[in-house]
Amino acid sequence: MEYLNLLLLILLPVSLLKIFSWITKSSPTNLPPGPAPLPIFGNLFKLGKKPHESLTQLAQIYGPLMSLKLGSLTTIVISSSTTAKEVLQKHDQSFSSRTVIDAVTVFNHHESSIVWLPPTPQWRTLRKLTNSHIFTTQKLDSNQSLRHQKLEELVSYVRRNANAGSVINIGQAAFTIVLNLISNSFFSIDLADGFGSDSVCVFKDAVRGAMLEAGKPNLSDYFPVIRFMDLQGVRRGMSKHFGVLDEIFEKIIQQKLLTLHSREGKGDLLDMILDPSHDNGIQLQHHEIKGLFKDFFAAGTDTTSSTVEWAMAELLHNPSKMTKAQQELSDILGKDQPIEESDIIRLPYLQAVVKETLRLHPPVPFLVPHKAENNVEIHDFVVPKGAQVLVNVWAIGRDPALWKDPTCFSPERFLDLKSDYKGQDFELIPFGSGRRICPGLPLAHRMVHLVLGLLLQSFDWELENGLKPENLDMEEEFGFTLAKATGLRAIPVIRL
Ligand code: HEM
Repeated sequence: MEYLNLLLLILLPVSLLKIFSWITKSSPTNLPPGPAPLPIFGNLFKLGKKPHESLTQLAQIYGPLMSLKLGSLTTIVISSSTTAKEVLQKHDQSFSSRTVIDAVTVFNHHESSIVWLPPTPQWRTLRKLTNSHIFTTQKLDSNQSLRHQKLEELVSYVRRNANAGSVINIGQAAFTIVLNLISNSFFSIDLADGFGSDSVCVFKDAVRGAMLEAGKPNLSDYFPVIRFMDLQGVRRGMSKHFGVLDEIFEKIIQQKLLTLHSREGKGDLLDMILDPSHDNGIQLQHHEIKGLFKDFFAAGTDTTSSTVEWAMAELLHNPSKMTKAQQELSDILGKDQPIEESDIIRLPYLQAVVKETLRLHPPVPFLVPHKAENNVEIHDFVVPKGAQVLVNVWAIGRDPALWKDPTCFSPERFLDLKSDYKGQDFELIPFGSGRRICPGLPLAHRMVHLVLGLLLQSFDWELENGLKPENLDMEEEFGFTLAKATGLRAIPVIRL
């Protein structure tokens, strides 16, 4: 970063002066409080390696509604549940647009992406498709048997490793199963042809690589005049990762087109989208279909599997909580009847473990950047039109005013508390809230509970090399999604 700034200083004095004049011209007077900006760079150097942590610390000084200048980009950071409610509920419409980051402009992805489009009719059509045709209870119930088959494969895989006394990379296994759960829910095929297979590695590298590129503080976003230079190579990296995903989905669509009108058609989501005679009232262009799948898999795989990995990491770090979750599964389901989607509601402790994991480790720590469509007054300050709005869900999940012993993993707190993550309780919003709330929430909810439930129901877990629970590395790696810095490795033991 330092080296790039130096380069910037040497190469671009003229452009920088121009930016400086923009900054001074466009700053409204009653912005929310924030640290004093340096000329040209603003508060860029305050971001550090872990922006979710540094912005949490800054909010302790400047408050839950804080403004920063990141280069020429005015950024408002929201760090309390009450301010989040103002932004995502009271002023939902004004903040339902997106600040499009340079990384996602490769292949013009942002122009047809459900994640990045502003709330235009095109975006509404895509949301209608997701809300009314994909993630409805009826649709999800209708393809749950496919997911159960996949989960049996996960149990067999873990059992084989348990018999051999081998260690499992839990994040990798969770990613594989989530990839196949999603691909089967959408187009009835396995995208991963086996645990640890090349296909999984290729897909995971592409998704994780894209998340890391998209999460990088990128000079192109802060100084639009130098975008064309792609100084940090973010667009180059992103083109490579998106290219891999594009090729995979192109192949699947071509195969589907061959079987569309034959008996081999499975009547799944992709059949429905491709079939012009289907009565869904929605016609998507070829590139829109590919874009939609890119969004679903990028948004759905890493987030869901990292939630499972963090939950297992917290349980291995706190063995008494793991025993409690296992005890509940044994008491309610026994050991021979594998957990099913309809069982989730009967497992309050397992649900509490998932909530507590999402409180401490929200996979998307700032939500996807929102944007102010007009000047909006909040608590006597003005969020100016065009500002980027980041909701620091990580900070809200650890706010000592809301949570007792906030950094302590204690699922028990959710046994009495009625808070849920469905978007109504602003102290727990890992999926966001309002118009842009995650449409994949109902599927993610089922997948996380099923995978975690199965790992706990059938197996005990030990850390490798006799590592003590208290010594387990719990470091985070900042990206667009917040991953565990070191992969979680543990040895399964079949439960008697
Ligand atoms: C958007 C979280 C799983 C598809 C989002 C947002 C968050 C989020 C925070 C942005 C909300 C905002 O900006 O206000 C999560 C978490 C997941 C998960 C924590 C798992 C634990 C999934 C799955 C899918 C999915 C499984 C689909 C297969 C999407 C899409 C959007 C989105 C398409 C963009 C919606 C829009 O901008 O209109 N998700 N997500 N997500 N998510 Fe998820």
